[in-house]
Amino acid sequence: MTTAAPGQQTGAAPRSGLSPAPPHILVVFGASGDLATRKLLPALAGLASQGALPENFNVVGVARTTWTDDEFRKVALESAPEASSSWTKLASRFRYVAGEYSDAGTFTRLAGVLADCDDQLGTGGNRVYYLATVPDAFATVADGLAASGLNRPSSASSTARLVVEKPYGHDLDSALELDSALKRSFEEKDLFRIDHYMGKETVQNVLALRFANAVFEPVWNRRYVDAVQVTVAESLGVEHRGGFYEHAGALRDIIQNHMMQVLALTLMEPPATVDALGIRDEKVKLLRAIEVPSVDAAAGSVVRGQYTAGTIDSSPVPGYRQEDGVDPLSSTETYVAMRLAVDNWRWAGVPVYVRTGKRLPERLTEVVLRFHRVPHLAFGGRLARELQPNCLVLRIQPDDGITLHFGAKIPGEAFRVRTVKMEFSYAEAFQDPRADAYERLLHDAMVGDATLFVRADEVDQAWRIVDPFLDAFEDDAVPLATYPAGTWGPREAELLMSGREFGWGVP
Ligand code: BG6
Repeated sequence: MTTAAPGQQTGAAPRSGLSPAPPHILVVFGASGDLATRKLLPALAGLASQGALPENFNVVGVARTTWTDDEFRKVALESAPEASSSWTKLASRFRYVAGEYSDAGTFTRLAGVLADCDDQLGTGGNRVYYLATVPDAFATVADGLAASGLNRPSSASSTARLVVEKPYGHDLDSALELDSALKRSFEEKDLFRIDHYMGKETVQNVLALRFANAVFEPVWNRRYVDAVQVTVAESLGVEHRGGFYEHAGALRDIIQNHMMQVLALTLMEPPATVDALGIRDEKVKLLRAIEVPSVDAAAGSVVRGQYTAGTIDSSPVPGYRQEDGVDPLSSTETYVAMRLAVDNWRWAGVPVYVRTGKRLPERLTEVVLRFHRVPHLAFGGRLARELQPNCLVLRIQPDDGITLHFGAKIPGEAFRVRTVKMEFSYAEAFQDPRADAYERLLHDAMVGDATLFVRADEVDQAWRIVDPFLDAFEDDAVPLATYPAGTWGPREAELLMSGREFGWGVP
């Protein structure tokens, strides 16, 4: 029995401009885990309340935890307590399959549940499989789907896609291995590697800023830009993920993926078309142009740090080595700052500084373009020395917006100039709440738009850049500096800019 025509939507009109996805079953592997309950289920609840899910939709959770359908439904409701009535209605039909991923029986039971849902809800055989498990299980799940034939669309008009969470490998070799394992079961066009930073509206706005405005692009190059800085700062520590973080560290957790994606969008050439091919071709070209240093050179252009006990928002917090699940002698980095070079016509000679850290004073993600000074300052003397060069700041979070720092005359008789700010704030300009990154990406996966997902060659290239730095850390060629929680990282990070007239951020 079909309860509604395919494509018919439920609930209110889309708030964020997302049109209803086609009929689908979303299968979440790792459904009892942290990612599912903290991010995926709330994002689905958000989509439901925007009317961006079709009526012909269901979620099937799969995990080792021995829940029943009802227990999973309860968790779904609890994970989005503020959700709309459309979510409550939807969650009441969610299904759950308990089982080991290495057991063929799990996939046989899953196939039965999927067939049931197709019959009852008219989901048309369309599947998005979401790998929210521990990374060790990725290949096993893909193999299990293939062995039961679930990796192939059930008809010429249906689709079967696999969404893969990070970490995508732990270095280049393991990423290549994972890729060939997944490609035993899915083709590249059906593999959707997720980087939730690409789902953030303000990350996408980098494209609009650069390529929809005549004023910025002409100065977006080495002739005008003196240096580029990207910061991804978090005030949170490792929370309850100490065990995971011990094997990741800031380089793998943030730089290899989120940071490289933000850098690629900021520095790439204009794409001919804003679609999956156009954007991803340009991103990978940029990543290929980032110099891959030798291990020695990498060691000389990176700072690694680890937080010690300190204070965040006036409350004392423990050091990294005292966190649950962390080795008391751990040398895992919670902070990285590094200098990169882009060897292409546009950026030759422009240093690119990136830094990320946990337990920094605030949550802040921003890109700063620092422009050259004007060639001659007619005002002379102290003023010439005090006036800062122009800076353009793209603030990704929080308070997303754009700020241009430039010089203006101070009112009065004397000709004095100081730096002032021109601000654009998203919240002020657009009243509509913006879709959360996971909402946008889940929706795109169902629609089949891969533009904001990461292609295999991008992942490989990002590992190629990061691997020498990882090797330098493993060889202990980079001392582990410490910083008290609640400070901006080790002092050594400032030394990366020695010889330049600026430090981190905007003066
Ligand atoms: C995740 C990392 O990918 O991104 C986390 O694993 C980090 O360690 C998180 O906290 C940051 O995401 P956001 O959206 O809060 O900036």
